[in-house]
Amino acid sequence: MRTSYRTHTCGQLRAADEGSEVALCGWVDVVRDQGGVLFVDLRDRYGTTQVTFRGDKDADLLTAADKVRSEWVLCVSGKVIKRPAEAVNPKMETGEIEVEAHGLEVLSEADTPPFPFDERSEVSAEVRLKHRHLDLRRARMTEILRDRARIMSMIRSGLEAQGFIDVETPTLVRSTPEGARDYIVPSRVHPGQFYALPQSPQIFKQLLMVGGQDRYYQFARCYRDEDLRADRQPEFTQIDLEASFVRPDDVFGFLEPVVAELVKTFHGRDVPVPFRRMPYHESMERFGNDKPDLRNPLELKTVNEEAAALGFRVFEMALEAGGIVKALAAPGAAALSRKEIDALETEAKSMGAPGLAWAKVTHDGATGPMGKFLGGEAGAAFLQTVGAKPGDLLLCGAGSSVVVNRVLSVMRIRMGERLELIDTSRTEVLWVTEFPMLEWNDEEERFHAMHHAFTMPVVDDLPIVFEAAGADPATWDNEKLAAIRTQAYDLVIDGVEMGSGSVRIHERAVQEAAFTLLGLSPEDVERRFGWFVQALRYGTPPHGGFAIGFDRLVMTLLGEDGIQDVIAFPKTMTATDLMCRAPAPVEAEQLEDCSIRLAPGITNEGSGSEASQAP
Ligand code: AMO
Repeated sequence: MRTSYRTHTCGQLRAADEGSEVALCGWVDVVRDQGGVLFVDLRDRYGTTQVTFRGDKDADLLTAADKVRSEWVLCVSGKVIKRPAEAVNPKMETGEIEVEAHGLEVLSEADTPPFPFDERSEVSAEVRLKHRHLDLRRARMTEILRDRARIMSMIRSGLEAQGFIDVETPTLVRSTPEGARDYIVPSRVHPGQFYALPQSPQIFKQLLMVGGQDRYYQFARCYRDEDLRADRQPEFTQIDLEASFVRPDDVFGFLEPVVAELVKTFHGRDVPVPFRRMPYHESMERFGNDKPDLRNPLELKTVNEEAAALGFRVFEMALEAGGIVKALAAPGAAALSRKEIDALETEAKSMGAPGLAWAKVTHDGATGPMGKFLGGEAGAAFLQTVGAKPGDLLLCGAGSSVVVNRVLSVMRIRMGERLELIDTSRTEVLWVTEFPMLEWNDEEERFHAMHHAFTMPVVDDLPIVFEAAGADPATWDNEKLAAIRTQAYDLVIDGVEMGSGSVRIHERAVQEAAFTLLGLSPEDVERRFGWFVQALRYGTPPHGGFAIGFDRLVMTLLGEDGIQDVIAFPKTMTATDLMCRAPAPVEAEQLEDCSIRLAPGITNEGSGSEASQAP
């Protein structure tokens, strides 16, 4: 009597196992009845093995096997035999053998699955997510989960070899209203009080440095209640790290060998170490965003002076209002249809632009709405600066730098894709450095921290910080303040923001000046992060760190389009779990326990959202 269910997995047996007595367990993938012989492909996470039931050897066994259906779970015992030459399947790793069954135990029967598990069938994302436990049986999902675990383990070894230790930080924390909205958790024992789920372990990892732990990392689960996109989930994983006595170069040095090894393993390409670096300012100027895909050769050009000379009122008005004019020459794109250009303009408008100025450059001048302004010397100078040649499509943005860059960075991507200019044979890894300290918020008419309030300015810009902090805010030169650079950096792979980090402020005087620039009074500071600021007073080492979006990294390394695809149990774009139907109402007693009463019109029957509907 065997003590284990199986002797081998369904992906393990080879020709060398011929003659072995084996037992396999798995799901019925396909059944083929060839009159007197039944072929069953048995599948598990490791592969598929063909099992044969022969009526001439055991008629009762064949009768029993005849009853099995797709996705039943079986335990089959039998003997490994070589397939005849004409039946060898070179596409299957186990394709040289089959198992001739002499025993069959049905471990579990199955209802007819709601969709087929092959990769060819068109099944909606919603159906897959509703039955994610079944979708996981798909070969691709199995590969993804295996690779995700392998990436995790490579990162662990890479960081641990450099002295990083894994420390868990709490997930019921104090709400710090900064960045995205918090998910909040009511306290039963402290009526009216709430925990928040962490948006990141930022504060705790800095406190680990105060606590002398020197090098910390963690695969940290983070929660953010924000608008979702293909690369954003409400709950996601960060490879979070922090180290003491470091400058930006040290942080880059920790991550570069680890990331380079992952790119080598999964993209089969060598990325030169150290990675390329580009200041934020340069990235915005050349590409219009802070996460350029450097596989795309197109670049933007600022053409304020040249545009002012064209006599085009739209440009003149934008410049008079303190705005900018930028242009993109798309090589050979004059062939685009009017319909395609209209679609680009519609997209530009959806991003806040009043329109999109364009022209087609020909050997005899330019056509299109901007065409008539491009004749003559001024036009020639404009086209030369932009680098536009006959056959090119010229796309221009005029207005505030924020909107112009937003629109043209997207046009650069669209043109790169449309003209097939993106060199997918390369992996482009880039550090974008020296992010600005402050970001102006029009609504609140004050500066916000672009990264976070504890980000260290670059040493050369510290005098500007101190000078402004000591002056009356009414006298601030906002343009000068907006240009203050910090020791904050992002990691960008092929145009995807993979992670962010910074060197943090460890000196009290710098921190107080930073709070002043952020418009935070001592009372605000005390209320928001008083306890944290207090904690930094007992000997804080210089420190800095980083967090990589682990799901995004896996998505990029495995060439998937969305992070949903690389998470075992993801949520939809409306933050719902279709499988277990969360969020969901809770019992009235649970609300009462937490001293919570719902607002008028809201019942704890649910709001009829997609999550609360029956499957
Ligand atoms: P940041 O907020 O930039 O930095 O987050 C770091 C990285 O986490 C990933 N990420 C997300 N991934 C999936 N879904 C989301 N909703 C989501 N939001 C962010 C991104 C991002 O680059 N504490 C700082 C890091 C530090 O300074 O050390 C932080 O959290 O890939």
